[in-house]
Amino acid sequence: MTRPNFHRLRRHLAGWLLLVCTSPALAALSVEDLAERIGAGDPALGATKARAAGCMNCHGSGTASTSTPQLDGQLAGYTLAQIERFKAGQRSHPQIARDVSAPSITDAEDIAAWFASAAPMRGSGAAANADMARLFEKGDRSRDVIACVSCHGANGSGAISGSDSTPAIGGQSADYLRARLRSWRAGPQSGAPISVMNLITRALGDAEIDALSAWLSQLQPAP
Ligand code: HEC
Ligand code: HEC
Repeated sequence: MTRPNFHRLRRHLAGWLLLVCTSPALAALSVEDLAERIGAGDPALGATKARAAGCMNCHGSGTASTSTPQLDGQLAGYTLAQIERFKAGQRSHPQIARDVSAPSITDAEDIAAWFASAAPMRGSGAAANADMARLFEKGDRSRDVIACVSCHGANGSGAISGSDSTPAIGGQSADYLRARLRSWRAGPQSGAPISVMNLITRALGDAEIDALSAWLSQLQPAP
C-alpha cells in the first residue's frame, strides 16, 4: 500500500468503521485489504456523487434490467478502468456512454470507491453444475482455457495483483456475463487492446457460455 493511500485510510477511517459494522462480509477483511479494494477514492463522497450522476437509476440494487451489471463490491481499480474506457470510446454501449462520460476522474474515483465498499453482489448459491465448477477451478488444458479461479479469485470474488484488478464475477447477472463472454469471443471491443478474455473465450461454445454464466451468477463470493 502506498503512502497517500495510508493518509486517506486514516482520514476515512470513521466512514469505514461504519461500513464494516453494516457489512459482515467486509468485516472479515483486514483494513489493508479493504483499502486496496476501495482504492484512492472517498466512498462517502462517492455515494452522493453516484446518486447525483444518476448511476443508481440503472446500477441500483433491484434494477429490473439484468443486462446491466451489478457494481456492488466490485474492485474500484476495475470500475475506474472501465469508466476510463467508456470515456475514451474503447468500450461503448448505447445505454451508458453519455452518463459515464460526465463525471470527472476524481469523481469517478470516489464513485468507484463507494461501489467497492458496498456488500458484494451475491447469487442464490443454488445451482450445482459439476462441469462448470471444474472449468472454473481447473480450466481445460486441451483447449487452452485457463482456470478462471486463477485470476478471478475464489468464488469469483475478484483479485488485485500490483496495479491490475481482475473483476469480481461471482454473483453477477447471468445475462450480462453471457453478453460479455460472447462479445469477447467475437473479438476485441471497439479500439480496446486484445484482452486475455479474447483468448480464453475462443474455445467456448454457445451452450457452454450459457451454462457458465448461469453457474457464475449463483456464486456467493466473500470479498
Ligand atoms: C441508463 C442506464 C445506465 C446508467 C445511468 C449508468 N449505467 Fe453503467 N452500465 C449500464 C449498462 C447497460 C452497462 C453494460 C454495458 C456493456 O454491456 O458493455 C453498464 C456498464 C457499466 C460499467 C462496466 C461494469 C463492468 O462490470 O464491466 C461501469 C463501471 C459502469 N457502468 C459505471 C457507471 C457509472 C459510474 C454510472 C454513473 C456515472 C453509470 N454506470 C450509469 C447502464 C447504465
Ligand atoms: C489470466 C487471467 C484470467 C483468466 C484465467 C480469466 N480471466 Fe476473466 N478477466 C480477466 C481480466 C484481466 C478481465 C478484465 C478484462 C478487461 O477489462 O478487458 C476479465 C474479465 C472478465 C469478465 C468481465 C466482468 C465484467 O464485469 O464485465 C468476465 C465475465 C470474465 N472475465 C469471466 C471469466 C471466466 C468465465 C473465466 C474462465 C473460463 C475467466 N474469466 C478467466 C482475467 C482472466
